[in-house]
Amino acid sequence: MFADPKVPSSAGRDATGMCAATVEFRHVSKSYDRRDGPAAVDDLTFTVPAGSVCVLVGPSGCGKTTSLKMVNRLIEPTGGQILVDGTDVAGEEVTALRRRIGYVIQQVGLFPHRTVGENVTTVPRLLGWSREQQRERAEELLGLVGLDPARYRDRYPAQLSGGERQRVGVARALAADPPLMLMDEPFAAVDPIVRERLQNEFLRIQAELAKTILFVTHDIDEAIKMGDLVAVMQAGGHLAQFAPPDEILARPASDFVARFVGADRGLKRLSLSRIGALPLHQAVTAVAGEPVGDARQRSLADPFPFLLLIDRAGRPLGWLPDRDVPADGIVDERLAIPASPLLERETTLKDALSMMIAADVQAGIVVDPAGRVLGLLTMEALGAAGRAGAAGRAGAGAALRRAERRPAAARPPAAAP
Ligand SMILES: Nc1ncnc2c1ncn2[C@@H]1O[C@H](COP(=O)(O)OP(=O)(O)OP(=O)(O)O)[C@@H](O)[C@H]1O
Ligand SMILES: [Mg+2]
Repeated sequence: MFADPKVPSSAGRDATGMCAATVEFRHVSKSYDRRDGPAAVDDLTFTVPAGSVCVLVGPSGCGKTTSLKMVNRLIEPTGGQILVDGTDVAGEEVTALRRRIGYVIQQVGLFPHRTVGENVTTVPRLLGWSREQQRERAEELLGLVGLDPARYRDRYPAQLSGGERQRVGVARALAADPPLMLMDEPFAAVDPIVRERLQNEFLRIQAELAKTILFVTHDIDEAIKMGDLVAVMQAGGHLAQFAPPDEILARPASDFVARFVGADRGLKRLSLSRIGALPLHQAVTAVAGEPVGDARQRSLADPFPFLLLIDRAGRPLGWLPDRDVPADGIVDERLAIPASPLLERETTLKDALSMMIAADVQAGIVVDPAGRVLGLLTMEALGAAGRAGAAGRAGAGAALRRAERRPAAARPPAAAP
């Protein structure tokens, strides 16, 4: 069912260079005691398309780890089937299956008596890669997860911080370029700041590698951030809801899901949506240093009570209250109140709201990459977008790439619009 992983680096890739597998749970159940005993996992059915991240989330003991371990057959189901790329894993040879599925276990589980480099190349060694191939792969992966190979390769796990160990765990799971990764609370054992950094690195790596990933967490915020799809599980191993994050937040399927995602789900949704293609209020503008023309009439006719002064390139300079706009003469920049927060199409609605509240303004100015005014995002539009589900959501990796190049708000806010 998989391509031959004995060939390093290009292993498992299809014609487009993608290395990912579809995973399908079909009525999967597991009872630890007896076949008819209390279920740890109960009738789980869902499909994860190749190249997407599916997060299993739910309270402790709801069957997340059990579900994951049935994929690589560390645990055998008592009912149902799990198919990887259409093939039932029950028919696979177990050792071969496990070598082809990357696995980051709960609590990392590095081999303490092996160096970082040896840990990373565990599977390639079992697959018989040459020393040279192993060394190259270790260097490549340590670099990928942000650990300088020269500094870290020969250390032992006890000589690493918690966050560094987690990175090595991820590198080890990626070593044979598996089309499928199982990650069980991979970032749980570190503080929130390190976790955030590891999550962002993970998303950056995933944007590049596009693996199929089953990711377990009990943290709903992590699930929403990381998942293309989220499987919310509840006690007894039931699937409470399986949907993209925005849908889980917008339309929780039950009281349990609504409680689990939290009372702030409206705000969480705003963090999933960007200004993107939202309709913007067309600002009434006038170019500083040029004749004012009919700016006063235009500004008075517009419901928004301010005129936006721009420079000759179209970049915002500041606001003029309607009543201060001269009827004729030259538009004087010195009268302007400094501009509101500058937003970009890529800014999330949650960040936009936060910047507008912090600046105590009713509108943010949306600019293009050159800093030219595209229009205004008003509080009203933001509220409407939040209610409607707004600008949609791109893949997590794409969101991250944008977030990385998002500049901070520009000029100091004032008691303006
Ligand atoms: N080997 C076992 N024998 C018997 N019961 C088990 C075994 N392993 C797990 N269980 C039970 O199955 C249920 C699901 O366990 P599982 O480890 O899948 O939960 P989890 O969702 O991963 O929890 P956590 O968030 O705490 O890691 C629990 O009630 C647990 O007690
Ligand atoms: Mg678990």
